Amino acid sequence: MNKQEIKTRILNLREELNRHNHNYYVLAQPEISDFEYDLKMQELISLEKQYPEFHDNYSPTQRVGSDISQEFTQVTHKYPMLSLGNTYSEADLIDFDNRVKKILGDEDYEYICELKYDGAAISLRYIDGKLKHAVTRGDGIKGDDVTENIKTIKSIPLSLTGNNWPDDFEIRGEIIMLKEDFNRLNNERIESGEATFANPRNLASGTLKMQKASEVAKRPLNCFLYHLTGANLPSNYHYSNLQTAKHWGFNIPSVIEIKKTITKVFDFIHKWDKEREGLPFEIDGIVIKINSLEQQKKLGFTSKSPRWAISYKFKAEQVTTKLLSIDYQVGRTGAITPVANLEPVRLAGTVVKRASLHNADQIELHDIRIGDMVFVEKGGEIIPKIVGVDKSRRNPTSKVLEYIKYCPYCGTELIRKEGEASHYCPNETSCPPQIKGKIEHFISRKAMNIDGIGQETIELLFDNNLVKDVADLYELRYEDLISLDRMAEKSVKNILQGIEESKNTPFRKVLFAIGIRYVGETVAKKLSQSLKSIDKIANSSFESLVAVDEIGEKIAGSITEYFSKPDNKKLIERLKKHGLNFEISEDEINKDEVLNGLSIVISGSFEKHSREELKELIEKYGGKNVSSISKKTNYLLAGKNIGPSKLSKVQKLHIPIISEDEFIAMIKSE
Ligand code: IVH
Repeated sequence: MNKQEIKTRILNLREELNRHNHNYYVLAQPEISDFEYDLKMQELISLEKQYPEFHDNYSPTQRVGSDISQEFTQVTHKYPMLSLGNTYSEADLIDFDNRVKKILGDEDYEYICELKYDGAAISLRYIDGKLKHAVTRGDGIKGDDVTENIKTIKSIPLSLTGNNWPDDFEIRGEIIMLKEDFNRLNNERIESGEATFANPRNLASGTLKMQKASEVAKRPLNCFLYHLTGANLPSNYHYSNLQTAKHWGFNIPSVIEIKKTITKVFDFIHKWDKEREGLPFEIDGIVIKINSLEQQKKLGFTSKSPRWAISYKFKAEQVTTKLLSIDYQVGRTGAITPVANLEPVRLAGTVVKRASLHNADQIELHDIRIGDMVFVEKGGEIIPKIVGVDKSRRNPTSKVLEYIKYCPYCGTELIRKEGEASHYCPNETSCPPQIKGKIEHFISRKAMNIDGIGQETIELLFDNNLVKDVADLYELRYEDLISLDRMAEKSVKNILQGIEESKNTPFRKVLFAIGIRYVGETVAKKLSQSLKSIDKIANSSFESLVAVDEIGEKIAGSITEYFSKPDNKKLIERLKKHGLNFEISEDEINKDEVLNGLSIVISGSFEKHSREELKELIEKYGGKNVSSISKKTNYLLAGKNIGPSKLSKVQKLHIPIISEDEFIAMIKSE
């Protein structure tokens, strides 16, 4: 290719990738597989690397985010970012409607009803169709420039499509995280021993302020846009402006309705109050806006908020009950979580007896005391939380709650590291709940996957002094187990067999299983691929760990700390003696992981490989073999005699079918 052809290829790839991003992230209608997308992206990355003269800040390759720490500069909003007047009652809405009527006199008017997304507000400024600034709300006048972070959100266009956009305008909206992504992220944090986030809103706004855009890129954020400002907007009506902005590439919510009367507005409110549980994201109310921009101008603003819009907030279902006592749970990494015991009370269909208090700060913030009548709410999560105290009902003799200083299980003095919300019990080797938690983690499905042992068995083994650390599992004998209460011969054999088989577990899973703080599944995989053995990891300096792709200072610090402790080294030596894998095996080394993140269903019979072999190949190259077809399936690897119901399902879901040969070509292509 000559230079001109290369430039054309680069421009075409950019245009194509932008379109596929939009199809996937905004329309949720991908036209190509993730695999094909990745190939195009790889090609563009390598062309841009070879020909730096064609660099463009707005290229889709620029969404990965830099890992250089940034400082946020303050930017003054061209138009202040006001908030809306809030109300919780329909009577207030009728008052609002009456005020509108009074000011507009005998003019007709209509309302636009939208959902009120519970996230972090953002203002995006586009000049000549390119994203120039993304600024947080801040104090409404000035906010932080978080453009680099925002660029990692794939549903936000870097360059606009179409052509009738104003030269200079702002579009505002909400950065949110889907409930599903929020729960997944929190579960991953639990698995890697990190503190969890309280709700999707905190997670979204915390992520926007992260200093490394590369970290933001790992968090699946989304953005809904709901407000255009600037001169020369395409229409004089809010509703049609948003519909037009859809064609410029923006993610405009599909729930937006025109209502001619306030009674119709109430219908909309009632409908969404009932149905909001089923939405994939959190909303905390409904926003009602006057459609005509001219009428908006006439209505104007009060000092704080527009007179042409109002938000109706849903009442979170809340009850009051008595706080009886607080338990302090100790996790496998020693993190302390305070849990409230409550006088049983009905809330959103279930009886609540316990609620999470998160950490010491939370207790201090609300000045929560034993015996208080507390407000309990159910948020997006399953465990209800205490959101405040009814101080008018407080017993005057009650005392400020003193947070525990010593571990309730082993008596060790607790520590609290700078910048961390949780207290920790540092007695890693002999604090009972930490030991039991570590063993539970070790045997769990994603780690050593030892069948036959559950939480109860661990308790039993621990209480009978048979297991005090994970290496003890490999020293268990038939005689030890059969003499235990309620232990039948069959279960003993199961347990011993499960333990024996676990010795074949690949290194990356063993590394995850030993439970180094912050070393979750993904990090363990990265480490095993790049450093290849536990000895190499143990002997790596902090600096060389940080040099590994995706390993940050926090993880590196935790790893060096782990291996600085003689007890941990001894444990590893013992596990080595029992034959666990502490080195990556030849066939685990998957050079480029061509199937990374892909989920593949196998069906039918094959000529060259057995189904078991195909399954292994999928996993070896970073993919996932799943048994049933769903929206999330990327490919159906089909052999002969595939069942008709499977076939019709993949056709309905537009899932590509690949043959055995095509599959082999795919993994050989790298
Ligand atoms: S309109 C001048 N529409 O709620 C009007 N806001 O207090 C600009 N919000 O700061 C806001 N969903 O962060 C608007 N559909 C929606 C919204 C929405 C959520 C947030 C936004 C705003 C706050 C209002």
